[in-house]
Amino acid sequence: MHRFLVELVAAKRAEPGDDLLSGLVALEDALSSDELVSMAFLALWAGYENLVNLIGNGVRALLSVPDQVAGMDLAVAVEELTRFDQPLQWAIRRFPVRDVVIGGVEIPAGDTVLLGIAAANHDSSVFGDTGLDLRRRVNPHVSYGYGIHRSFGSRLSQVEAGVAFGGLLDRGVRLAVEMGALRWVPSFRNRGLVELPVILG
Ligand code: HEM
Repeated sequence: MHRFLVELVAAKRAEPGDDLLSGLVALEDALSSDELVSMAFLALWAGYENLVNLIGNGVRALLSVPDQVAGMDLAVAVEELTRFDQPLQWAIRRFPVRDVVIGGVEIPAGDTVLLGIAAANHDSSVFGDTGLDLRRRVNPHVSYGYGIHRSFGSRLSQVEAGVAFGGLLDRGVRLAVEMGALRWVPSFRNRGLVELPVILG
């Protein structure tokens, strides 16, 4: 992937097009080559794998609560599906620039800090009953992070996920195997299914 993106950046520098990467390359000294390549990697990877898992996890969750699907508001349901089984378990790693104390725990400068998105999304002091509720209107989940580094593609993902869920439900979708037969990808970082066998129509 790195080699491919280095070549792509060079190609865009030589022959700019009307696209995101050409626009970044045109910023010249504002971004080093490493920054350019990592931005391209992030947009490519972040914009694909997370969405695959949001759709897979979401369809599995929808099929587990058929009684809640009828009459649901799709936009509200998409937010809840994004909270309930978020594709990313942790935010991007962070490092304190000086010693900090969080929740009474001292974290030395330079230590690795992982922010637990999954745990935060199931914090009953915020969400009350954290079970799946497709009608949950107040939904301050942090599946896209929060603040200055909140996901660049959050709006796009919600739109894409809505099209996927709406399209599959309109067409009719049911599991082709027992719920218990589904397997999760063994990953520390990502939350996603190995596969989701379904019957359409
Ligand atoms: C379901 C889909 C997605 C999820 C769950 C997701 C989640 C996240 C999370 C948790 C972060 C890190 C926030 C932090 O550590 O502070 C992030 C950052 C980012 N995401 Fe996404 N994302 C998704 C889709 C996308 C898409 C579609 C794109 C691009 C097209 C994208 C581009 C980015 C970028 C560029 C950042 C870095 C933002 C920054 O550092 O300022 N993401 N995303």
